[in-house]
Amino acid sequence: MACRKPAARALLTAGACLAILAVLVGAAPALGDAAAGKFVYSRCIACHSPDRNRTGPRHCGVYGRVSGTASRYDYSDAMREAAIVWDVDSLDRFLASPMTTVPGTTMGFAGVPDTRERQDLVAYLAQLNASAEECRESQ
Ligand code: HEC
Repeated sequence: MACRKPAARALLTAGACLAILAVLVGAAPALGDAAAGKFVYSRCIACHSPDRNRTGPRHCGVYGRVSGTASRYDYSDAMREAAIVWDVDSLDRFLASPMTTVPGTTMGFAGVPDTRERQDLVAYLAQLNASAEECRESQ
């Protein structure tokens, strides 16, 4: 039987490990609930809007964008120089503690301490890119 051969066993083990990794990595972005995240986003709308630059930059397109690059928004040097690609991990870290993650940022907000709320918020930000309704005014 092929599995008795050490090489075949090693391959099978590696395959199983890869499959488990793929499940873990694949599951990470799906953890949050975008609908719940929209509710958490009510803490952001004092400064942000999905489709317009206000005190803070617009959030349509923020997922996958490099920090400090929304057009016609005057960022701090700190945010531009950070050059963070906004994905699940970086948004989670930033939103947990904006002012320590990007020292010198002008985002004067303490952060969202609850992990679940952050995951929901990130899910909401990620799906905004595809929301024709919420992003119709985006420039
Ligand atoms: C008190 C106002 C204020 C609040 C409240 C606020 N922000 Fe911000 N936010 C800003 C400002 C100002 C910037 C630009 C920071 C800079 O240039 O350093 C910013 C930047 C950001 C960025 C980086 C965007 C980019 O284009 O690089 C993200 C992401 C972000 N905010 C998410 C949020 C979320 C999510 C919330 C709610 C949980 C929130 N912010 C609450 C003012 C705020």
